[in-house]
Amino acid sequence: MPDKNISFYLRKINPVDKIAHYNQLFTEYLQQNTRVPEPKNLYEPIDYILKLGGKRIRPILTLIGAEIFGATPEEALPAALAIEIFHNFSLVHDDIMDAAPLRRGKDTVHTKWDTNTGILSGDAMLIQAYQCFEIYDAKLFSQLVKLFSNTALEVCEGQQYDIDFETRNDVSTNEYLKMITYKTSVLVGCAFQMGAIIANQTKEAQKEIYKYGKLLGIAFQIQDDYLDAFGDPETFGKQVGGDIIENKKTFLFLKAKELGNSSQKEQLHQLFSNKDQVDTNGKITITKQIFNESGASEATKKAIQEYTEQAFEVAKKLDIPNESKEMLINFGTYLMNRRV
Ligand code: IPE
Ligand code: IPE
Ligand code: MG
Ligand code: MG
Ligand code: MG
Repeated sequence: MPDKNISFYLRKINPVDKIAHYNQLFTEYLQQNTRVPEPKNLYEPIDYILKLGGKRIRPILTLIGAEIFGATPEEALPAALAIEIFHNFSLVHDDIMDAAPLRRGKDTVHTKWDTNTGILSGDAMLIQAYQCFEIYDAKLFSQLVKLFSNTALEVCEGQQYDIDFETRNDVSTNEYLKMITYKTSVLVGCAFQMGAIIANQTKEAQKEIYKYGKLLGIAFQIQDDYLDAFGDPETFGKQVGGDIIENKKTFLFLKAKELGNSSQKEQLHQLFSNKDQVDTNGKITITKQIFNESGASEATKKAIQEYTEQAFEVAKKLDIPNESKEMLINFGTYLMNRRV
């Protein structure tokens, strides 16, 4: 048999199977590249959160990005690992900020250990993410790190807006879109763009694939908002209703404020005016009822579809083979229909 690398064979597999292959390729690489040295209380939480898995969307996108532009997925593995470690770092800190008890069906790091552990293990993960880039030569290193630092800072900005909005009741849809673009979408765009950088693509090509990721990321976060209220507690893996408890200004909330009648608006205003409610289950039930009855739930589903379709329009115009476009569109469709 001729000595072909893995991408030769992957090109022959249908796009959905390919995503499963990338997941496996990445997970094996992650397993090989994680250790738990002393002190255990610093490194065990890192190992714990990384091995809880999750969907591995962002690293898969980096591998896809590399492959559609002609690099091998293997070349992109260190960058993919950087993105996934960074993502998990942001989740460890996000769960502290959101007072979230559950992640991927298990205790969050700050619940299983404590808040200080979550802060320090998270900090160490951010440093580990940067270390992943050390394997690349100077030119690639500089491009990847520049993009990564810009993106990471934007994620912090998005996270700050998210927290600021909890105590505001005049958040506009535009402000919301900016907030989710920063906290979530830019990392999805960055994941793709890193693949394109590794494949030595022009700035223009990098920008286009970044744009696809950014639009997909917006749809992804609106879907995350939807599932936070309407996900199945048995399978969702996070605390259903967590955003409602925390007074998050989600897409559902903003739509309900826009579409609801005056009594629904007033009720929402009361329910979201502080975090002191004793009866959080009651708050969740009434809020979800308002989301449904005001038409906010339907409007949210529609927005997820619309942003995904906008992303597909960008994908169709990319200068890549049709089978690669098909893979991008398949991935977007999978994201739109996810229940977790
Ligand atoms: C959760 O991301 C945080 C958001 C930006 C919505 P994911 O839904 O990708 O989480 P995992 O990694 O699959 O658990
Ligand atoms: C998280 O948004 C975005 C980042 C972690 C940067 P959420 O707070 O909605 O994410 P989940 O729902 O906890 O996963
Ligand atoms: Mg959260
Ligand atoms: Mg959050
Ligand atoms: Mg969420």
